[in-house]
Amino acid sequence: MEPSTQKLIHTFGALADLGQEIAGTGDFNEMVRTSMHLLLGTIALRRGAVVECSGPGPLRCVSIWGLGDQLFNDVDINEAEMKAFLAGDVSDSSVKNESSSNPFLTRYRKTLAAEGIELVLPMIVRGEVTGLVLLGGKASGEEFSSDDFETIHAMVRHIGVGIHTHRLLEQLAQRAEENRRLYDELRAIYRDTVRAFAAAIDIKDKYTQGHSERVGRYSEIIARELGWGEDEVEGIQIAGYLHDIGKLVVDRNIINAPYRIDAKQSSELNKHPAAGYEILLPINHPYADIPLMAKYHHERLDGRGYPDGLVDEQIPIGAKIVSLADSFDAMTTDRPYRRRRSFEDVIRDLRQNSGKQFDSKVVVAFARAILKEITGEAKERRITKMLGKGYLDGDQMATLLADLIAELEGNQEVCAARQ
Ligand SMILES: [Fe+2]
Repeated sequence: MEPSTQKLIHTFGALADLGQEIAGTGDFNEMVRTSMHLLLGTIALRRGAVVECSGPGPLRCVSIWGLGDQLFNDVDINEAEMKAFLAGDVSDSSVKNESSSNPFLTRYRKTLAAEGIELVLPMIVRGEVTGLVLLGGKASGEEFSSDDFETIHAMVRHIGVGIHTHRLLEQLAQRAEENRRLYDELRAIYRDTVRAFAAAIDIKDKYTQGHSERVGRYSEIIARELGWGEDEVEGIQIAGYLHDIGKLVVDRNIINAPYRIDAKQSSELNKHPAAGYEILLPINHPYADIPLMAKYHHERLDGRGYPDGLVDEQIPIGAKIVSLADSFDAMTTDRPYRRRRSFEDVIRDLRQNSGKQFDSKVVVAFARAILKEITGEAKERRITKMLGKGYLDGDQMATLLADLIAELEGNQEVCAARQ
């Protein structure tokens, strides 16, 4: 094989390696270092450096070989020098060429020549100088041939593109991070606003202080127990906070009646789920189906609920969760006309109404979450805290919950076998 063909093949090989290096997503400094070594090796050069700049100012050394580390400490580039590089030709890159009109070379010729640098080539991408490649002479002592120049220029262009791409990726990552932060902030604002609304709903109803907040938390706990993803869990919590928002349009005297309300008042109060739906519908929620969960939180599996009298499979699972959380809180908190019920009584109610009012799977999940707190399996005792001291105490509570779970799961299996 002719030596010139061999050299050509070698150069092509080096360019291919360089292309791969630059396209890789690995460490940026490592990429530049390897690229420079490929360049030095291809032309057999003793020394070289790659420096980058983003506009006029100091030059940042990315990779250096065979030169003193301090070389670029006091080297910078100004606007006129950048313009000259953009307009320059091949002869301008030679440090030895004293007649060169390149102002950067004029300014640093002595310093660079003293270090044995012979060529200074700009890396130009999209009409901008992204940095410089500085090269020493050939190890053989020969002059650079025109082939050498072509190879050098091709490789320098490659490295320049690599640096440019890296910068674009960095900018992109920065913007993505900024967007993520803004999104998080927006979500936090949304959550705070929702909680403020929940507090407003609860203030209107002076007997059920903190009800919406608790329904939000119970709903979240149930959804978590059902194995929902983080986003859906957040969504159901929001739905819990807002489920009674429709009460804002119901007469305060009906909500706060210190006695059981009559049929007319009751029908007025029963408008709140549909009213809540109307209030929530125009809002662009970051979670799915929030208005529907508010609308259907008083529906029952047996079709005896309101506002639409839906049956089991027609009721969204989210609404079933909020419904149980809502009823559970109503049973376990004092009302003006009655004291709260004992936990044994609540379990009895859940057993009787599973499959009629409540979805058994949802009841099982809630019972499991409570049982985990009683047995100490749960790290936090959030339900216990909401129910207040002593409410869940008693040896029989764990057994009652375990029995309820076993019974409801048994029923589910029977149902599944029948289908
Ligand atoms: Fe309600």
